[in-house]
Amino acid sequence: MSSRRTTGERYIVQGPAILRGSIRTSGAKNHALAAMCAALLTDEPVVLTNVPDLSDTSSIAELLHSLGATIDYRPGVSMTICAKGLSTVEAPTELISENRASFQVMGPLLARQGMAACAEPGGDSIGQRPIEVHLGGFRALGAIVERDGGRWLAKAPDGPGSLRGTRVFMDYPSVSGTQNVMMAAVLAVGRTTIVNAATEPEVQELAGLLKAMGAKIDGVGTQMLEIEGVTELHGAHYPIMPDRIEAGTFAVAAAMTGGHVRIEDAPVDVMEGLIAKLRLAGATIETVGERCIEVSREGDLYPLNFQALPYPGIATDVQAPLTTMLTQAHGVSSVYERVFDNRMLYVGELQKMGADIRSLGSQAIVTGPTKLDGTRVHALDVRAGAAVLLAGLVARGTTTIEDIYHLDRGYERLDEKLRALGARVERA
Ligand code: EPU
Repeated sequence: MSSRRTTGERYIVQGPAILRGSIRTSGAKNHALAAMCAALLTDEPVVLTNVPDLSDTSSIAELLHSLGATIDYRPGVSMTICAKGLSTVEAPTELISENRASFQVMGPLLARQGMAACAEPGGDSIGQRPIEVHLGGFRALGAIVERDGGRWLAKAPDGPGSLRGTRVFMDYPSVSGTQNVMMAAVLAVGRTTIVNAATEPEVQELAGLLKAMGAKIDGVGTQMLEIEGVTELHGAHYPIMPDRIEAGTFAVAAAMTGGHVRIEDAPVDVMEGLIAKLRLAGATIETVGERCIEVSREGDLYPLNFQALPYPGIATDVQAPLTTMLTQAHGVSSVYERVFDNRMLYVGELQKMGADIRSLGSQAIVTGPTKLDGTRVHALDVRAGAAVLLAGLVARGTTTIEDIYHLDRGYERLDEKLRALGARVERA
């Protein structure tokens, strides 16, 4: 399994490149991380297939192990998690502070063990990342939630199985907030309605796993989730959905470099917004069956106006790659990031390469096409890293990308996949 953190490594990219060939999409990070936490809800084994080998999945595996679960991971085959012998409800602070998803052990522990203790979660620096939606949901279900030093303590009123179903209104349709509260509610007594729930495919697929484990959930994919609590859940086999953000990043890279890439296992049905925008920008996208796209471009790239929004809008996680592509479009594009308030820091890195982008807060105006030049840049977070990598593919000369441990969090074997498409990318 990928080591948790690979500091000091960099990518050396020799541009320009035109991507051609075929790659297979890996399992979705943000589904896998939540699904792994859901395994805490039962004492029977949960077998997940298509779990990507990422530093984030490795970090959550370590967290589950520290709580007493056993994990048998065979990359490319399956991950079996058995939480029969949970030994503690206290998540080690250093593991919680490593990423955002780690806070999602809170809901399952609270539901099954009646108690949970977690530090404030970590994650990328992409803006404010409050957790009041999670905590408010737990409180609505009857938990007593308090801050104790640097950690959050949550207790069910009368021990394990004593959360009470209720109506939970979410101020914001938070993805991990919806997942966390849904995992707490599946073992609550009675009916929970989550109003203003997130509808992201990764939330829908977590609900799919929970249902396979015996949970009763209606309204999946809508903003109103209805959960009828059950007394216990059982083991299940469940596939992790393919990663729409990884597939989207490769689709953008193909369009940006004027190449022709076949992306196997792409979750086409949940990529509609991005596919529509890429077509408007001049890319040709052919869907081959339900799970494959071919992306190519021969003529010029056209500018776009787009906003990053909650699903089914264009995902914030492809905002940076898509904006980077627009540096090669003929004209002026405008981009508005509406999910996170500080997700445009990568613009400064692109400017170092010669990009003509003016950004103010969450908006950017991109003028193109600009010839980019390779230089030394930083991967500031996982998607900001994808942005500078894509820029390196079209830039003249050598782009050195520092801090690629951010990319290792979210893209499986990225350099290998790019090399398979003809890019000259080396890890150093
Ligand atoms: N928000 C609130 N209150 C809350 C929680 C969130 O106002 O209590 C706001 C945030 O301030 C933010 C917005 O909601 O502006 C979105 O945050 P959300 O909670 O939905 O994001 P998340 O659950 O922390 C997940 C993914 C992110 C992805 C977002 C949005 C995981 C582990 N992370 O984060 O993935 O960008 O949903 O789709 O599932 C990535 O993969 O690069 C990544 C950052």
